[in-house]
Amino acid sequence: MDEFTILRAIHVAAVVHWIGGVWFVTFVVLPAVSRFAEPARRVAFFEEVEGRFAFQARISTAIAGLSGFWLTWRMAAFDRFLDPGRFWFMNAMVALWVIFTLVLFVLEPLVLHRWFSTRAARDPEGTMAIVLTMHRVLSTAAVVTVAGAVLGAHGGV
Ligand code: HEM
Repeated sequence: MDEFTILRAIHVAAVVHWIGGVWFVTFVVLPAVSRFAEPARRVAFFEEVEGRFAFQARISTAIAGLSGFWLTWRMAAFDRFLDPGRFWFMNAMVALWVIFTLVLFVLEPLVLHRWFSTRAARDPEGTMAIVLTMHRVLSTAAVVTVAGAVLGAHGGV
């Protein structure tokens, strides 16, 4: 087995952990929580679950990014980014990675955590609704990107 195949496996494993976790929080944990708890408890539970997952997601996002750039370098494929008509899935992967990296490493610790606590103290229900919508949008974009990347990597698009 060559280095390229191992890199690909690492890349996909990191993506599965990260995107699968986001999907699970969005479409399983959050809807379940909103059924059984009152608004203030929902916020506390969400922070607990999200905080634990965010720690793991930082690791898998970093591994996905490093392996992704390494794959691109190994394939000498950086020029693909200049041809989005044919290789849109390459730009989609990087765009999604940039958004999550910004949220997990910059916005969440510096801005979002404080914003969430302050707003949730005033309006827990409305704040959870905003957070859930953002999660739904990002989860859906992530799954479309995964499908596009597999199709693109195997000559399907
Ligand atoms: C820095 C960001 C990223 C870079 C530079 C990158 C780069 C790459 C490259 C070069 C390939 C191989 C393409 C080919 O064989 O033609 C690939 C495959 C793949 N990437 Fe990424 N990627 C990144 C992030 C992501 C993200 C965020 C996702 C998930 C949403 C993702 C999912 C995949 C999948 C599913 C494959 C297909 C693997 C296969 O079927 O062989 N990547 N990536």
